[in-house]
Amino acid sequence: MKKNISEIRQMFFDFFEKKNHKIITGSSLIPENDTSLLFTNAGMNQFKDIFLEKIIPTNKRVVTSQYCIRAGGKHNDLENVGYTTQHHTFFEMLGNFSFGDYFKNEAIQFAWELLTSKKWFNLSKDKLFVTIHEQDYETYNIWKNKIGIPDKHIFLTKNKKYNSENFWKMGDTGPCGPCTEIFYNNQKNIKNNNLTTITNINKNQYIEIWNLVFIQFNQKNNKTLIPLSTPFVDTGMGLERITSIIQKVYSNYDIDIFRKLIFSISQILKINNLNHKSLYVLADHIRSCSFLINYGITPSSEGRGYVLRRIIRRAIRHGYALGVKDIFFYKLLKPLISIMNDTNNQLKKKQLKIEKILRTEEKQFIYILKRGIHILKKKLKNTKKNTITGKVAFNLYDTYGFPIDLTIEICKEHKTKVDIEELKKIMKKKCKNTRKKNLTHFKNIESQINQKPTKFLGYKKKECQGKIITLLKNNQETKIIYEKEEATVILDKTSFYGESGGQIGDSGILQSNNGTIFEVFNTKKYKNGIFAHIGILKNGKLILGEKLNAKINVKKRNLIQSNHSSTHLLYATLKKVLDKNIQKKGSFINEKYLHFDFTYSKSINNKQIYQIENIINKHIKKNIPIITKIITLNENNINKKNTIKSLYDKYGKKIRILIIKNISTEFCCGTHANKTGDIKIFHIISEYSIASGVRRIKAITGETAIKSFYEKRKLIDNINEIINNNDEKIILNKIQKLQNFYYKYKKEIQKSQLKKYLQTNILSNNNIKKINGIRILSKNINNIDTKKLRIIAKNLKNKEKNMIIILTTKKKEKIIIIVCVTNDLINQIQANTIIYKIIQKIDGKGGGKKDFAEGGGNNIISLQDILSELKILISNIIIK
Ligand code: ALA
Repeated sequence: MKKNISEIRQMFFDFFEKKNHKIITGSSLIPENDTSLLFTNAGMNQFKDIFLEKIIPTNKRVVTSQYCIRAGGKHNDLENVGYTTQHHTFFEMLGNFSFGDYFKNEAIQFAWELLTSKKWFNLSKDKLFVTIHEQDYETYNIWKNKIGIPDKHIFLTKNKKYNSENFWKMGDTGPCGPCTEIFYNNQKNIKNNNLTTITNINKNQYIEIWNLVFIQFNQKNNKTLIPLSTPFVDTGMGLERITSIIQKVYSNYDIDIFRKLIFSISQILKINNLNHKSLYVLADHIRSCSFLINYGITPSSEGRGYVLRRIIRRAIRHGYALGVKDIFFYKLLKPLISIMNDTNNQLKKKQLKIEKILRTEEKQFIYILKRGIHILKKKLKNTKKNTITGKVAFNLYDTYGFPIDLTIEICKEHKTKVDIEELKKIMKKKCKNTRKKNLTHFKNIESQINQKPTKFLGYKKKECQGKIITLLKNNQETKIIYEKEEATVILDKTSFYGESGGQIGDSGILQSNNGTIFEVFNTKKYKNGIFAHIGILKNGKLILGEKLNAKINVKKRNLIQSNHSSTHLLYATLKKVLDKNIQKKGSFINEKYLHFDFTYSKSINNKQIYQIENIINKHIKKNIPIITKIITLNENNINKKNTIKSLYDKYGKKIRILIIKNISTEFCCGTHANKTGDIKIFHIISEYSIASGVRRIKAITGETAIKSFYEKRKLIDNINEIINNNDEKIILNKIQKLQNFYYKYKKEIQKSQLKKYLQTNILSNNNIKKINGIRILSKNINNIDTKKLRIIAKNLKNKEKNMIIILTTKKKEKIIIIVCVTNDLINQIQANTIIYKIIQKIDGKGGGKKDFAEGGGNNIISLQDILSELKILISNIIIK
């Protein structure tokens, strides 16, 4: 019976567990706290800080299986997928690691035993070949003399020292070192090699299965390599590749999971040829896209989201090449979930979300794809000398949004080249111009859009006609917008309110008589008074100069208006209830809620909150008209009040005032309810401080508030049911009792957990050494809060006798050290003396008392040294 991929992964774990390795879970596909990498591209990524000697590992030998993405950054296989039998954008990497424990000798012996032993992978030794860095004599010696590999199975790579196939680097910076790679040759006639030095091993004939890296350097930048004081081992073996060899199929796409996945995809897409390369591409790409979305990436126009978008678009193009007519890519997730059987069922849990994102992306892209392919195919028919000019490729991208990598790939399939040099030149020139233009765009939109301010008719009209005076695509002016394109539309007149004064912009539609519909997501108001409608063209074309009907989403606008008028009532009421000198510091108003920031340095209690709500709800009940007035400022009224003077300076002669009877009179440009009764009800949901002396109140109104009351009522009903009572006093009493009970037991559980932790992890003999009869416990614990570390240290100090306790941990770029001395020893040696000696070693700061002291420093590289030095230091102190 053939072993399946899961069994092979398990064998790898079992083998290394027998060799005293601890099995560790792979890390996220998105590297944590590491901006040097786009995606996790190797098993060693999560151990980077250990290799760089910033962290002391808990285990010196570990083994992992790591999901990796190689589709962007230094390691990128995207273009190879579909054209080779071994490349993937997403794959699983098996690896064993030694953190300053074993090195080349054992690493090579372990690899050889696992690959060739009958008990394990049982591969024929005759089929295995290795490559070695030309100057790595030690590795050569081990392969040749200890393992006994014949010379004809050894290739020495001759290349620049640190720029060789046999010098592995994680990225442009980070841990690196020479490596030896193990290859499998599945062909019958093996050429005689006789220790040839070759530049590159022929990778079509030899399948690379395992890379053993001997990490010895930290690449600081493209020039500097810093040697590390401890040598490490980092190995990586593609699970899919080794499976293809053990299953004797020699193509990753023929191993068990891929065959099942490809079969299911072919069924969904109704394709008969199971060896069509586009099926391989889809099988690979659905894996990477699903896992990327699962780890929180969404398609976008930059960074990780852009890579995801490229993979999705490449997949859709291959679906199109297979003749698929409908939106299909999201449908491939279902078989993937049942076949992958991934740890914790991650994909299953997010199935709906992943499907939705894939569907939306495909919907947006399909039109661009069809149009681009149509144009490109026409060009391909008329091409001379089998070359497409750079200009054509660029135009497809710039005008029609058709991705350049797809143009290149489609041309390749038609045995046509793209003039890349010309394309690069045009891109460079365009980039320069765009950068210039963008700078102007951000600095001053007026200079780009040379138009008069938009006439805003939306105080009264929910709908009006306007003429398109500017169209923008990617912040560039254009004359026409096509279906499914995102754009910014500027009209001479509009009913859409542009985001300003804390109130969000309107959404709605711009519509023409011939059926064109542009969906407006948001409206912005630029400083020069121009209103920009931002959205996507759903149907038809938008042409500069055309007339459109601008219709706002009335329901949403009414909700926003109620919230805006409530902010004015709130401001006036706060002055009444809390302090008449309160000043507004800012506000935010959308259709769901409002928040209002104001100066006030005391906290606000529930009684005051109820009072504020009560007053506002009374105003609402009275259904008072809310009116606006435009007033003209003149010398007389400017001088009267400073506030009016500042308004005059800011807004000019005419200003708009909002008046709610004798309750509130304020300058305001926003849109408002007609009467206070429109607000229906006002309810504060939170109140907190956002800066020193500034507080924020968050509130809801109308239907949203009523809904929230119902939800709270439901909650109370549920509590009544659990407590089995509906008497308010009894309920509160019971909850209080439960709470006390909970805290009491939580404390007890924490105590017993701590005891267990101390016994199993800290008080082990490995951590304790006797010097001059005194027990010295030293231990580094990572990922621990300093408070907890103190608790552990004090706990040990109180329980133990005759002991000096030294605990360390790493916090960002700092090391923290805690020293405790048990009471029976403090006459001989004191914690503050010890800490003083240690901080001298690490350029740090610290201090404390006789029994407890604490210190810290930035010199983390020498942490390992510190721990051993500590013991010497202590023995010196004791001797004195
Ligand atoms: N980190 C090494 C690799 O990815 C093992 O090839």
